[in-house]
Amino acid sequence: MHIWAIANQKGGVGKTTTTLALGRGLAMLGHRVLMIDLDPHASLTRAFDVPAEPPPSGVLDLFATPPADLSSLARASEVEHLGYVCAQTALATLERRSANQPGLGLAMQQALTRHAGQHDYILLDCPPTLGLLMINALAAADRVIIPTQAEPLALHGLTSMVRTVDMVERSRRRPLPTSILPTLFDKRTRAGNDTLRQMQDSYGDRVWSDAIPVDTKICNVKALTLAAMPSGYAGRGLAAYRRALEWLIASDAVPMEQAA
Ligand SMILES: Nc1ncnc2c1ncn2[C@@H]1O[C@H](COP(=O)(O)OP(=O)(O)O)[C@@H](O)[C@H]1O
Ligand SMILES: [Mg+2]
Repeated sequence: MHIWAIANQKGGVGKTTTTLALGRGLAMLGHRVLMIDLDPHASLTRAFDVPAEPPPSGVLDLFATPPADLSSLARASEVEHLGYVCAQTALATLERRSANQPGLGLAMQQALTRHAGQHDYILLDCPPTLGLLMINALAAADRVIIPTQAEPLALHGLTSMVRTVDMVERSRRRPLPTSILPTLFDKRTRAGNDTLRQMQDSYGDRVWSDAIPVDTKICNVKALTLAAMPSGYAGRGLAAYRRALEWLIASDAVPMEQAA
């Protein structure tokens, strides 16, 4: 079982879009995929048309005593082999309510350990804040994918995120390979091209040598949840995600010591 956390402390960089595009892509290759929505904003959950009220069962139930079983929270999607677990908006209050409960940072890892063997890939769509939920994702993951908008201001967010991953890696004493995915790239702008080069100079082969372009078709994330996507949907953005997936699968094949 591969566990990929899709994380960046900045919002609006394409985390949810990346989770859905990679999740769908992996399922189309025949892998059994479970996407877990860890963001109280619940964008991934909404893409599947799950209403916020009444609150669906979901990630919050993994933090209950006793915790729910992940299998009981997984919902099937229209796409064969592609399942998901909902986020509830009450996740936003989890950190405050659980301040005095030690050990909650490992709730996701424990849930996934109990769940082992039922899926080939688990994709964790993280919130844009460094808190209990992101720490849970990074503690459980065996790879972190950092979607980063190819524009100058996003570089600060990338630096903080890489620092966070380094910190988690040291505390858990297990490698956490990082893959940086440039997103929302506009090749016509100088700022976009400069940022891409800076990412590559700073982070070398941890950065995908290509980029996900700006493509307005992909804003309709609901299309990614359908077995048959509306005609005309498959554009440059989706094609780029397919290439990104090939790169990620190939890097997963590299032994951990080399990848870290
Ligand atoms: N490649 C892209 N081209 C154009 N718009 C995009 C692209 N990727 C994401 N978006 C749009 O940008 C916004 C933020 O994307 P999202 O995946 O929700 O980011 P995050 O999860 O990091 O907050 C959404 O409106 C989404 O539709
Ligand atoms: Mg999101």
